[in-house]
Amino acid sequence: MTFAFPFEPGDTGDDHWRARAAGVIPGGSSTGSKRPDALYGSRATDAAMPTHYERAEGCMLWAPDGRRFIDCSMALGAVGIGYADPAITQAVQSAAAMGNVTGLPHRLEVEVAERLVDLIPCAEEMRFLRTGAEATAAAVRLARTATGKSHVIACGYFGWLDWCSDAAGVPDAVQADVTWVPFDDSRALDEAAALHGAHLAAIILEPLVHDIASSAWLRAARLACDRSGAVLIFDEIKTAFRVRTGGVQELLDIVPDLTTLGKAMANGYPVAAVVGRANIMEQATATWISSTAAAESTGLAAVLAVCAWHDRVDVPERMAQAGGTLQEIIGSALADAPWVEVQVKGPPIMWRLHAELPDALDALVAAAAHAGVLLKRGAYQFGAVAHDQRAFDAIAQAMPAVMQSLTPGPRRTDA
Ligand SMILES: Cc1ncc(COP(=O)(O)O)c(C=O)c1O
Repeated sequence: MTFAFPFEPGDTGDDHWRARAAGVIPGGSSTGSKRPDALYGSRATDAAMPTHYERAEGCMLWAPDGRRFIDCSMALGAVGIGYADPAITQAVQSAAAMGNVTGLPHRLEVEVAERLVDLIPCAEEMRFLRTGAEATAAAVRLARTATGKSHVIACGYFGWLDWCSDAAGVPDAVQADVTWVPFDDSRALDEAAALHGAHLAAIILEPLVHDIASSAWLRAARLACDRSGAVLIFDEIKTAFRVRTGGVQELLDIVPDLTTLGKAMANGYPVAAVVGRANIMEQATATWISSTAAAESTGLAAVLAVCAWHDRVDVPERMAQAGGTLQEIIGSALADAPWVEVQVKGPPIMWRLHAELPDALDALVAAAAHAGVLLKRGAYQFGAVAHDQRAFDAIAQAMPAVMQSLTPGPRRTDA
């Protein structure tokens, strides 16, 4: 039996970095979903689980101990082309060599803004930031400034900042200004809008949560904003430069007032933006939205290089094909292994693994990692342009043994 990624369950990886991380970084990682607990759940203490990487290229990454993995999460959707794409790396290196930030903005800020006006349906003007959380906070601030109102109706994940969080340490008064509504439920949205209409600054929605939203729901949001004078915000941080270059608003032809962008727009470099109607964006000068490295030239160069990719190739189609092939391979391996109680769900462009019992999912993700395939637990799997036939073949070859290793009772070796 030969495997492209021959890590037998029981092999121990280099958990030296995990131990060192635990001593100096609370939870072991600065990003919540990269903590060992988040990556592997009940299997987090298995020393063979990779917790750090040394190098990444295409759809592969290498752990510090040299083991190689095929990645299906692609940096939580931030990398849509591939790791260390040569054209993007070259653009970033050139920008770095010319000075990343100074006391003046780089001309690339203007060039990228002009490109995004062409690509994103609602974009007339924009401000750049570095993280998605900053971009959504800026969008809500702009809406509150423009309307003079404070209440927000929300559905989705918008980052870690206070305005959209119920985590420990967030004051009740901040949380009281946001009403959360269920995804794709027009009635609940209409009821919330009727209740809060007089104080409503914004409706902010993620247009894809597990599945693409219905046009009816997004149109109900548009209508509710038009009636109340509130600002409609689509958070397209995961969906722009992926579902379509111009996001779900391009796919469904429903134009919000503001949109937030990030992730795949810069193939993993920290660039985010709030873009939208000029009269609302102009409120940025009436409030205060500013950060020292908001528009560093390296990140902006990465955005231009990603735009060049989208000019040359139908990137969203390639991502959907890659995601669909990954989904098919894992889905059919699961179908052949009914003892593994995990299902694949969602559209090929962003799909996920679902299990009623968390342990079933933890066991699958751990067994796949043992076999050199990184699946994301509790979030989306993302296909990238860099996923190629070699990767698909290697995953397809590894999966039967992964499933066999999960057989209840003694492990079978005849796969
Ligand atoms: C839809 C959406 N909005 C906002 C964010 C926050 O972005 P960041 O983690 O870059 O702050 C994320 C991150 O996953 C996201 O998916």
